[in-house]
Order: sequence, then structure tokens, then C-alpha cells
Amino acid sequence: MYTLGEFIIKNRDRFSYSTESLLRLFSSIKLASKAIHKEVNKAGLTEEIIGSSGITNVQGENQQKLDQFAHRVFIESFKSRNVVCGIASEESKDFIVIKGKQEDISQNQYIVLIDPLDGSSNIDVNVSIGTIFSVYMRKSPIKMNLTIEDFLQKGNQQILAGYIIYGSSTILVYSAGNGVHGFTLDPSFGTFYLSHYNICFPKMEKIYSINEGNYYKFSNGIKKFIRYCQEKKDNRPYTARYIGSLVGDFHRNLIQGGIYIYPKTASYPEGKLRLLYECNPMAFLSEQAGGKASDGNQRILDIEPTKLHQRSPLICGPKGMVSKLEEFIVDCE
Ligand code: AHG
Ligand code: MN
Ligand code: MN
Repeated sequence: MYTLGEFIIKNRDRFSYSTESLLRLFSSIKLASKAIHKEVNKAGLTEEIIGSSGITNVQGENQQKLDQFAHRVFIESFKSRNVVCGIASEESKDFIVIKGKQEDISQNQYIVLIDPLDGSSNIDVNVSIGTIFSVYMRKSPIKMNLTIEDFLQKGNQQILAGYIIYGSSTILVYSAGNGVHGFTLDPSFGTFYLSHYNICFPKMEKIYSINEGNYYKFSNGIKKFIRYCQEKKDNRPYTARYIGSLVGDFHRNLIQGGIYIYPKTASYPEGKLRLLYECNPMAFLSEQAGGKASDGNQRILDIEPTKLHQRSPLICGPKGMVSKLEEFIVDCE
């Protein structure tokens, strides 16, 4: 069984950038995710982690104590490894600059965008939550100050994206542009081992995931697709599954074959999910797993971001299912 580090070294020829940088990036990500895993696993025992922090974040949403904890842990962990020069987090209004050590400055070229804790509404009820990350090369020259343009890059510029799911086990899933691979944490050793090699959406389409409680707020195209999923024809009806935790819903759909949909609604006219922290990394993984990701009208990875906390509709999953929904959206316009 390969560890994550061994796997990266073994596949070093397949990466178009420095293996050492990738190892350092993963060193930060593994360290932070193990700290979160540890806290999540004793969440019911301590008031320090469960519940609201009493603060409203930049998204206008109630920040949970675990949101804050996860944000802090990831920032500190990236600071300690001299590989990242800037971070934008869902939990912070502005981007954060990391000043690297002078002798390592040429290696601090990476920009990280992160949703430190995804699925906050599930923290207190012991249901799967996650972390989503996305990595880009900085665009501004190394010795200059970072600018907002370093963070507002199209998703098709991502060099690495992935998530960690804190579920019945803790699994790290990533793609560096050569397929999607999953590593399960063995908590007794604190080591991630390769458990899911080259994950692809299965041929059999099975599941649709959408918050159907919002049915009357959906457009006609989305409503028509939901009825199509429920129709008895060919291999339908599909099964409905929705946790309300993007990482959990996406992971299940990736393994079992399903589409995830968070469309525009009357309450969220631009969609609810964040383009940079949630949609782009999941879109990158979807495509790398042989699937597709769209906002209903265009490829997610081709959207030009204009602000850090921009929202977008997200439709991702097996190609056939996503294309079908796009057809319905166009038909109903
Ligand atoms: P976050 O906890 O990072 O704010 O993300 C929550 C997101 C996502 O994980 C999930 O799919 C979606 O919100 C659920 O929203 P609804 O409760 O509106 O269905
Ligand atoms: Mn989220
Ligand atoms: Mn979050």
C-alpha cells in the first residue's frame, strides 16, 4: 500500500511542476486535516468545537466554532511549510499574504483557495463534513506584492484540487491533472494510504442530489429535470440522496454515479456555492473523473471570476446527466 508521499514520488514524471513543491503542499494539507480529524472525532465531548461562534462571516452566514478552528489550522499549517505565498479562505474577507523565508522565496509560488470546513450545518449532528482546496501558480512576479488577480484566476488554471471528507473514515481525494486518486487515513499511524486509484464516475447513472425543499424556487428547466429523474423509463427513476454537505454528496456521487445540483433559487439568485472555494475544485475533479461541470449555461472552469466570494450555480457529475440537464435548461428558456 502506497502512502500519499510514496505515490507522488512514484508518479513524479507525470507532474508538470516540482515534486518537492507538491510534497510540501501536501505536507501542510495532511497536517491540518489530521488536526481537524482529531477534533471532529471528539466533537460531542467538548463545547469548544460544537456550536456557533456567535460571529457572522463575510458570506453573511453564521460561523461555527469548527469553521474558525479549521480556518486557523490551515493558515498556520501553510505558513509553516514555505510553499504558499497567498491564501483566500471562505472564512476571511480579504486574501492573506504569507511572507516566505528569504532563501526559499523562489519556492513560495503557490496560491491556495480553501473552504476550510464545508457542510457546517452538519457539524453538530455527526454527519460527514469536509475541507475543499484548490491550488494555482501566482501570476504576479515573485518579488512583487500579490494582487487580487493572483486569486481571481479561471478554474482551468488550477494545478491541484481536492477535498478531505471527515466521514466514517477520513479520506483525501485529489487531482493534479492526472486522474483522481483517494487516500484513506489510518488514524493509528496518522498516515494516508492509497485506497482509491484513478477514480472515474461509473457508467451506471444512479443518483440525483438536490435540495428538493426548494422545488418551488427552481426554474422550469430544473423542475423538468427533477421530474425526468423520477420518471419510470430506461434506467430511471434515479435515487434521491442529499446530505447538505457538498463534499459528502459529491464523494458519494463520484463513487456511485450521480449528479449534484445547486441551482439558482429565488433566495440565491446567483446560486449559493462559492465559485473559487467550492465550484472550481469540484469542477476540476469532475472533469478529471471523466465527468462534466456546468453552471447551466457554461463550463464552470471557463468562468472569469470578478470577486473573491463570488457565487455560482453548480451542476456536476457524469457527462450524460449534466448534458441532459443543460438541454432542459435551454429548452425552458
Ligand atoms: P459551507 O458549510 O461551507 O457554508 O457550505 C455549505 C454548502 C454545501 O456544503 C452544501 O451542499 C450546501 O451548502 C447546502 O445548502 P442547503 O442547506 O441550502 O441545501
Ligand atoms: Mn462549503
Ligand atoms: Mn465552509
